[in-house]
Amino acid sequence: MDVENEQQAVSADGGAEKPRAGLSRRAVIGWAGAGVAIGAAGVGTVAAATMADDAPAAAPQTPDVPFYGEHQSGISTPVQDRLHFAAFDVITEDRDALVKMLKEWTKAAASITGGREVGGGAVGVVPQSPPDDTGEALGLPASRLTLTIGFGPTLFEKDGKDRFGLKAKRPEALVDLPKFKGDRLEANRSGGDICIQACADDPQVAVHAIRNLARIGMGVVNVRWSQLGFGKTSSTTPDSQTPRNLMGFKDGTHNIAGTDADSLARHVWVAPGDGQDWMTGGSYLVARRIRMTIETWDRASLQDQEDTFGRTKIEGAPYGKQKERDAPDLSAMPADSHVRLAHPDSNNGLMILRRGYSFTDGTDGLGRLDAGLFFLAYQRDTRKAFVPLQTKLAANDKLNEYITHVGSAHFACPPGVRKPGEWWGQTLFG
Ligand code: HEM
Repeated sequence: MDVENEQQAVSADGGAEKPRAGLSRRAVIGWAGAGVAIGAAGVGTVAAATMADDAPAAAPQTPDVPFYGEHQSGISTPVQDRLHFAAFDVITEDRDALVKMLKEWTKAAASITGGREVGGGAVGVVPQSPPDDTGEALGLPASRLTLTIGFGPTLFEKDGKDRFGLKAKRPEALVDLPKFKGDRLEANRSGGDICIQACADDPQVAVHAIRNLARIGMGVVNVRWSQLGFGKTSSTTPDSQTPRNLMGFKDGTHNIAGTDADSLARHVWVAPGDGQDWMTGGSYLVARRIRMTIETWDRASLQDQEDTFGRTKIEGAPYGKQKERDAPDLSAMPADSHVRLAHPDSNNGLMILRRGYSFTDGTDGLGRLDAGLFFLAYQRDTRKAFVPLQTKLAANDKLNEYITHVGSAHFACPPGVRKPGEWWGQTLFG
């Protein structure tokens, strides 16, 4: 049987869904061969893989990241290489329409994170109507796609007015972020009622996901701003090679590991009794578009660059030590160095889970690259994590000579969709 043709597979929620048309035999076999952790979302993949028994062995592909679970994927799961992040404005006052869209989004998200097409697929049901899936991911595997949703303060209330009857459910931790020293925030790169963070190893897969959700949301949401990212600048997998940011430094050396259940419970996941019950198992996300004046940075001496972080450039070792993973001696670092200021020992044990990406978006019109770091950080309570940390960094960090925060947003990311039939936002709206 030719698995390269479309095959009807039974989806996790009982409906018929298509594995992506044109998906190569290689990719399908690879998922099975790699011993995919087959959650509910993986059923379609398995159906197709079984039919490929007679095909030659091929290089293993990365397994899908399960969509269903206690927590949303895309937070503590391994960081993929590419990002498409979108913030949406809700443009209707109709709560039912918003809920309907969230249910449709959830179904679509379960499909595409499992490498399947949206709804009736890219070919469509009848030629007279537009297809459900826009088609640009045909032939591509799921590429470890994760989709993570968050709700911004303005979804709950705007200009002091209740929205969708949600004002009383706004978590206290979902504060309006204060203006930090040096902020140069642009309104068209800040805020948003809802966000979707799409991460994948293939940019086309991430963009396809955001685009299809935007398409489904037509008439209910508009894209307010979006950001593409490449080259992760952080890591939740300390055993793998630490990535480098655009300043050339290893970034993510000391971060919360995805396998460190104790630290995740302490610093990342909202616990029962923390505030609004609907957020239990969720996390708060701060997104900051941080521009780097890399032209200035590139003219700084190596010594000055290393003094900025308190770590060496090539090895990433803390000052006074040899290896990247050696325990830092903060007193050996300059008082205004980034790592000394940000380390938990300087902040009563405070930690955040960083998950940022590099970006370059053309030029700034002044002959310089518009480049930097799209900072994403997850935490259990933003008031006790990002806010005090950034207040301190904004006032003292030597890194401020080379960076400017130009975009900012804050979202409450609810717990995971645990099983088919549940939907994004159910704990909030349900
Ligand atoms: C363009 C902006 C930034 C750059 C280039 C940058 C770069 C780095 C680098 C190279 C490290 C050392 C390696 C590591 O442990 O990961 C680091 C650590 C860290 N950064 Fe940043 N960072 C930026 C912004 C921020 C912001 C806005 C925050 C929080 C408000 C932050 C919080 C941290 C923390 C908590 C650590 C770990 C410190 C430790 O425990 O040793 N960073 N950063």
